[in-house]
Amino acid sequence: MASNQKESYIVDRYKLWDRWKPANYSYKHVKGARIAQILEDTGGVAPLTLELGVGPGGVASEVSRHGAKVIGIDLSPDALALAKRYCARYNVNLMRASGFALPFVDRSLDLVYASQVLHLFDAVGRLALLKEAHRVLKPGGRFVFDMKNITSHPARYWTSKKEKRERNFPPTSQIMALLKNSGYSSVVTRPGVLPLYKAPRVPNLWLFRLLSHTTFFIAVRP
Ligand SMILES: C[S@@+](CC[C@H](N)C(=O)[O-])C[C@H]1O[C@@H](n2cnc3c(N)ncnc32)[C@H](O)[C@@H]1O
Repeated sequence: MASNQKESYIVDRYKLWDRWKPANYSYKHVKGARIAQILEDTGGVAPLTLELGVGPGGVASEVSRHGAKVIGIDLSPDALALAKRYCARYNVNLMRASGFALPFVDRSLDLVYASQVLHLFDAVGRLALLKEAHRVLKPGGRFVFDMKNITSHPARYWTSKKEKRERNFPPTSQIMALLKNSGYSSVVTRPGVLPLYKAPRVPNLWLFRLLSHTTFFIAVRP
């Protein structure tokens, strides 16, 4: 697949949102609480926060409960329609826009995050997305995103074709190199949600980073 995947591919892929059931939202609230905790631990939840690839809004709604007004952008009208219904009682604004061309001026935001989005692109696409987030961040602003861990997705890892495997599970060294090339200065990692464990606080230990569903990267624009 081309590096900057065609927007129509993404829109088609995320037409299947009727799979979204209360259980999905329940997991996304756990994840949103974990993200809010990571944000608090690494500089705070900014009053105005952008979620890139908001999907049906489960994560954004929870992050908004931690003091942020969340602007959620997504390419998929189906995802946005679900998010519009789901986020109606939360402090979340929704917009149809691409992460490759964010509708914000340079250096205008303190915080951008993306939950389960960067695995959709290969290294070239990821670099473009990282640069675009970097463009809209103020100096000192953070881009926070996660990548899947193999230990939590073994079947997907071992049954995927090489190209998909490389896209979904890039080595941490690749992500670190891309972050450096797109201009971020300091980068730290944190474990995401642990299997069967719903509390938002997860110790930042090697074992937990290995076992968690995803690993978060917190990158600062100098
Ligand atoms: C796996 S879903 C994650 C949704 C949500 N962040 C969550 O964790 O529940 C990925 C989302 O990213 C959106 N997306 C993919 N590429 C995008 C792009 N270039 N710009 C904006 N949104 C995009 C998809 O439409 C989809 O809603």
